[in-house]
Amino acid sequence: MKNISRYAQLCPIIYGIGSASLLGEEVKKLGCSKVLVVSDENVSKIEFYKKCKKSLLDAGIELVEFNEVLPDPPDYIVNRGGEIARTEKIDAIVAVGGGSVMDAAKAINILINNPPPINQYFGNPVYKPGVPVVMVVTTAGTGSESTIVAVITDTVNGVKNSVLGAATLGILDPEATVTLPSEDTAHTGMDVFAHAAEAITAKLPNPKSELLASDAIKKIMKYLPIAFEDGTNIEARGNLLLASNFAGIAFNDALVHLGHAIAHSIGARFHVTHGEACALALPEVMKYAAGIDASKVKVVGEAMGISFAGNESSEEIGEIVAEAIRKFSKSMKIKSLKQLGISKEDLLNSADMIFKDPCYLFVPRELDREEVIKILENMYENY
Ligand SMILES: [Fe+2]
Repeated sequence: MKNISRYAQLCPIIYGIGSASLLGEEVKKLGCSKVLVVSDENVSKIEFYKKCKKSLLDAGIELVEFNEVLPDPPDYIVNRGGEIARTEKIDAIVAVGGGSVMDAAKAINILINNPPPINQYFGNPVYKPGVPVVMVVTTAGTGSESTIVAVITDTVNGVKNSVLGAATLGILDPEATVTLPSEDTAHTGMDVFAHAAEAITAKLPNPKSELLASDAIKKIMKYLPIAFEDGTNIEARGNLLLASNFAGIAFNDALVHLGHAIAHSIGARFHVTHGEACALALPEVMKYAAGIDASKVKVVGEAMGISFAGNESSEEIGEIVAEAIRKFSKSMKIKSLKQLGISKEDLLNSADMIFKDPCYLFVPRELDREEVIKILENMYENY
């Protein structure tokens, strides 16, 4: 039924400067006493990680550290984390990190009460629930604390796949993100922008997703340039974490679509970060979306601060919003595909991958191969 939509709030959040100091007490409130702390090598070296550990130890929680998570977490890392969790008989998981760490933690949790390897849970068959998972977020990007999906690399078949798993509690402490370099801040911020803009223009949009996604875009427009210039601006960092969380809640229900199908495909083929790829795809995706329902693209534009005269055609709305996104991305020093050393021919050869990406299933209108090639060509020429 086309006009029925649904929304949910998956994971409660504690937000605020210094909120990570509550971590230990919150884990204790969940009735847990021995946790697997999941993180990666970089995060495990920063001061903030030590603060999280101290909070747990002060609350009398026993720790087992697993800091081996790699970007786009591979299946074998998840399997190893699961083995440690079972051997050590932990009763909760605490993830301290960005999207990869949070996704690895969700997947490890599946292996606590179900046999390995993680690969057999791709495609989301029924499995027994695990232990509480608390996420302390260190990048304002994926919003993984609010989504039910964990993206894992299937190294057997050389593709990305996903399992389902939710967090029990998310902690958003702006102090966690002040050390993030400006380039990473820009890339992760543009990922948030893409989650929000794609959720608003989704195949099955819903009012709550639109509300949260619009606010996420407003926050990105206002605070990303500030954090890009001055990473220590705590007000900007806090608002970016909220934007990431709001956009995560928005796309957990409304789902991302063509922009992410393109971003996953070119991200897998070329040396481009997920956020860069999202930023480069988004203007052309908004033009495509304007051809389906321009009023939704207008919502994206209005959240960006654009005033529409009211007599623009659908095509004009798409072009106005696309150009505003390009301008904003350029101000965040997002490089063009040419500058990234990618040839037009190689880019156009990515077209077939886009149709195979899981996000393609959620496009608001099916495309043929020529249309996808035209979109890729425009991404190359228009930015
Ligand atoms: Fe994304």
